Amino acid sequence: MAVFNFKEIQDLGKIFKINLINSCSGFKSANLLGSISNEGIPNVAVFSSVTHLGSNPPTLGFILRPTTVPRDTYKNIKENGIFTINHIYEDIIEDAHHTSAKYPENISEFSVTSLEEEYKGNFKAPFIKNAPVQMSMKFIEEIYVPSNDVMLIVSQIQELYVEDELLQEDGLINLSKGNIATINGLDTYAIPKFKKQLTYQRPKK
Ligand SMILES: Cc1cc2nc3c(=O)[nH]c(=O)nc-3n(C[C@H](O)[C@H](O)[C@H](O)COP(=O)(O)O)c2cc1C
Repeated sequence: MAVFNFKEIQDLGKIFKINLINSCSGFKSANLLGSISNEGIPNVAVFSSVTHLGSNPPTLGFILRPTTVPRDTYKNIKENGIFTINHIYEDIIEDAHHTSAKYPENISEFSVTSLEEEYKGNFKAPFIKNAPVQMSMKFIEEIYVPSNDVMLIVSQIQELYVEDELLQEDGLINLSKGNIATINGLDTYAIPKFKKQLTYQRPKK
C-alpha cells in the first residue's frame, strides 16, 4: 500500500498533491451554483464541496477557495444574498466541468456552454434547466477558516425542486434514477448506481 506522511505530502509536486488530496476524502457532490450580479450578468460554476449541514432548518454549506483571485459566485452571493444549487447529471458533465474556467466577470458561462438558464417565480438567480434537482438558496453566514484561508458558506434552502421519478414516498431523492454525477478528485466524474437502502439501526440485543 502506498503511504504518505504529512511532510511527504507537503513536499509533493503541485499537480500530484492536488489530485491526491482532492480524491482522498471520497466521492464528492457534483453541483452547479447559479448566481447573478447586480448588473444582471448570470454566472454558473462547478463546486464539489456542497454538503448537508442540517435538516431543521434545511441548511447546506459549501467551501469557498481563498479569495486571492476574483470569485464571481462569491461576489454575486455577497451582493444579493441568493444563489441556486443544481445537480450535475450525465448529459452535462463536460459543460459543467468547463464552468471552472476563469472567465472574466462580464462573460457568463451560460454563453460559452450549452447549459441553459431557467428562472422560476420571482427568484432572481438562474437555475440550470433540466437539472433533476434544483434548489434556490439564501445566504446565511460565512465562517472563515484561518488555517487554510477558506470559507464555509452557510445557506438555507428556500425551494427544493425534484423530478417526480426521483422522489420516493419516504422522502429520499434516489439520485441514481436521475443519472446524477459524483466527483472523484478535481477532474473525474462517475455516475453511481443504486445498491441498497437500509433500515434505521438500533443496538443489537
Ligand atoms: C470539479 C471541480 C470542483 C470544484 N469545487 C470547488 C469548490 O468546492 N469550491 C471552490 O471555491 N471552487 C471550486 N472549484 C473551482 C471553481 O469551479 C472555479 O474557481 C470557478 O472558476 C469559480 O467560478 P466563479 O469565479 O464564476 O465563481 C471547483 C472546480 C472543479 C473543476
